[in-house]
Amino acid sequence: MRPTKILTFSGSIRTGSYSATLAAIAAKELALLGAEPVLISLEDYPLPIYDADLEAEEGVPQAAEQLRSQLALADGVFIATPEYNAAVPPLLKNAIDWASRAKGAPGGGGHDPFKGPVFAIGSTSPGALGGYRAAMMLRQVLALGLSALVLAEQAMVPAAHQAFTDAGDFKDERQLERLRGTLRTLIDQSALRAGLRA
Ligand SMILES: Cc1cc2nc3c(=O)[nH]c(=O)nc-3n(C[C@H](O)[C@H](O)[C@H](O)COP(=O)(O)O)c2cc1C
Repeated sequence: MRPTKILTFSGSIRTGSYSATLAAIAAKELALLGAEPVLISLEDYPLPIYDADLEAEEGVPQAAEQLRSQLALADGVFIATPEYNAAVPPLLKNAIDWASRAKGAPGGGGHDPFKGPVFAIGSTSPGALGGYRAAMMLRQVLALGLSALVLAEQAMVPAAHQAFTDAGDFKDERQLERLRGTLRTLIDQSALRAGLRA
């Protein structure tokens, strides 16, 4: 049986981004847990701010179609979001909005990009709440806006500026254990939904 494929990305393309670090740790751990992680960066999917006139005139950009395909081909998705003014950053919301408008290239993936995979949310910020409010907004966008199945468990990392080593690992083993718990559930539920496990 093939391994469970989990797409992983962050809502920031900033050099040294804490949420990109969290996404990279998640990808590493997913591999150790026996899944097949696919770590992408939204930097490789450059998109203009969504504008319905632009869509009507030029159609959905190729990058949105490609992102849609990545989502559609995944059994599970782990998104690590930063928090901007108590919300999901525009980069991430815009990417999700465009992907939701994409039709999908022929052969670009079997199922609906949001209704197929199981989603898990991670968040991190230098604040004490660890991006909790952005995580709740992302949950609303995915579950209420796009009918996605989003796990109740989520991985939040407060005090991001102190949480990671220069090598990009957690300083505190307990953070890693918490993330692992969420990822284990994500792998199990994604495999179940994809029919990879009875
Ligand atoms: C416009 C803006 C708004 C922000 N608002 C919040 C906020 O509401 N809560 C919070 O914890 N951090 C906030 N921050 C700080 C970010 O959490 C911090 O810049 C973080 O490093 C961004 O994530 P990244 O490291 O993945 O790029 C804000 C940053 C910016 C630029």
